[in-house]
Amino acid sequence: MKRIAVLTSGGDAPGMNAAIRSVVRTGLDKGWEVFGVRQGYAGLIADNLMPLGARDVSNIIQSGGTILGSSRAPAFETAEGRWEAVRVLNRRQVEALIVIGGNGSQAGANALSELEFPVVGVASTIDNDLYGSEICIGVDTALNIALEAIDRLKVTASSHQRAFIVETMGRDFGYLGLMTGIAGGAEYVIIPEVETHPDTVAEEIRNAYRRGKALALVVVAEGAYWNAERLVNYFKEHDSLGFSVRATILGHVQRGGAPTYFDRLLATRLGASAVQEIGDIHYGVLVGLNGGQISSTPLAEVVKTKKTLDLRLLELSKILAK
Ligand code: F6P
Repeated sequence: MKRIAVLTSGGDAPGMNAAIRSVVRTGLDKGWEVFGVRQGYAGLIADNLMPLGARDVSNIIQSGGTILGSSRAPAFETAEGRWEAVRVLNRRQVEALIVIGGNGSQAGANALSELEFPVVGVASTIDNDLYGSEICIGVDTALNIALEAIDRLKVTASSHQRAFIVETMGRDFGYLGLMTGIAGGAEYVIIPEVETHPDTVAEEIRNAYRRGKALALVVVAEGAYWNAERLVNYFKEHDSLGFSVRATILGHVQRGGAPTYFDRLLATRLGASAVQEIGDIHYGVLVGLNGGQISSTPLAEVVKTKKTLDLRLLELSKILAK
């Protein structure tokens, strides 16, 4: 009988629980033992493992967050921390580890793989900045939460003839901001990948006012220099925009929702595929979704390749803001 372990690491993402459930139940189906690691890599170093049975993952497919807990673990960034993790896994007779998480988490998975411990990664981050999966677990839910907030903000904005600046999460990648902006019908989208001057944004807001729009929406990704706070301060000190301005920073609200259908299904498929990779003795890879198909990419390639954004969509967002 094989013994495997699963952990969630980095920022939690809606759908992680569906992935844990899928790993546990498909692992049990193969006749394996499955252990859960609490609090990500920090819990791994601290030997915080527990056996997981089918009933331990009952009724969690619809829950956001992660029942295992997560962490950003500085101790795991040291060689000593990583060796300690391998010692714990060996002592516990764990033969393979599944790491559900984003960039930092998969860099950790790759480091374990370089120490020749069998690892399989599962692509999960709301930021969608992970190479190896066109879309990661949690992205769809985070986008839908942002859109729900924007739809509400547009109601109040149009009642008062206001311009709203809405800041999305996404660290230094503009995906969440760009997709939210397009799907939310923004007049202007600001992302870290493209330099933007606030006067250009101001002009777009004024144009929207002159064209008789009831409101203006600017979506800005958190990693952009001109984030919501800087923009509001800049606009206070400059000429009128026609609309009065308000800002909303969505922040962690975007991470806390119940996973959508898409995220539940994606997480379920990726969790099952990760188990299958272990069954096939195919380690050191990330499972993700590419061209609608589940695929695996070597972790070594994942960590050294930067995902890029299709900037034609930014141009499209400008055309659509007529
Ligand atoms: O990586 C996911 C993410 O939500 C980013 O969008 C954001 O910049 C970051 O995590 C926030 O980190 P924390 O939850 O540690 O404050």
